[in-house]
Amino acid sequence: MNELLTRNAARNIFFGGSTFFFLIFAALTAHSHWYVVNVSTDREGLTESVARGKHVWEKHSCINCHSILGEGAYFAPELGNVWTRYGGRDNPEAARQGIKAWIKAQPLNAPGRRRMPAFDLSEEELDALVDFFHWTDSIDTQDWPPHPVG
Ligand code: HEC
Repeated sequence: MNELLTRNAARNIFFGGSTFFFLIFAALTAHSHWYVVNVSTDREGLTESVARGKHVWEKHSCINCHSILGEGAYFAPELGNVWTRYGGRDNPEAARQGIKAWIKAQPLNAPGRRRMPAFDLSEEELDALVDFFHWTDSIDTQDWPPHPVG
């Protein structure tokens, strides 16, 4: 056996190294959680309507076709930044009406394009959905996606 590395030393390196890196892993996990809760989430803007909008989103399984902040299906456009794409940062009212009108106008039946089904949503549900999109858009995603259309 190599004299420089005794059995004891090898064991200490193994357990010491594992413990050391496990502690780093635990600290980084805690830091990520802290960052998400305290820095990148707009807590004050998290209204009841935003929560209702998320429920509408879940009830109708919009995520079966769409992704939101990268999570979900890649059949239809990313919606985490749909508020920005509809110009919500400059003209919130126009963006609200535009997104609602789009959802109400489905299905477009344009030949050669993917279709979105019609959802029988009330005005209140549509407004809640838009509030949810607006809030999601305000999350600091550190400039992700790199291109506005995802
Ligand atoms: C069966 C798949 C499917 C489901 C489910 C679906 N969508 Fe879509 N959606 C699409 C497709 C496809 C498009 C893009 C169509 C096009 O460009 O002509 C789209 C586009 C959109 C757009 C416009 C995006 C943009 O960038 O212009 C919005 C807003 C939207 N969907 C919201 C929703 C909401 C809210 C739900 C749930 C209530 C939902 N979608 C469920 C397929 C779906």
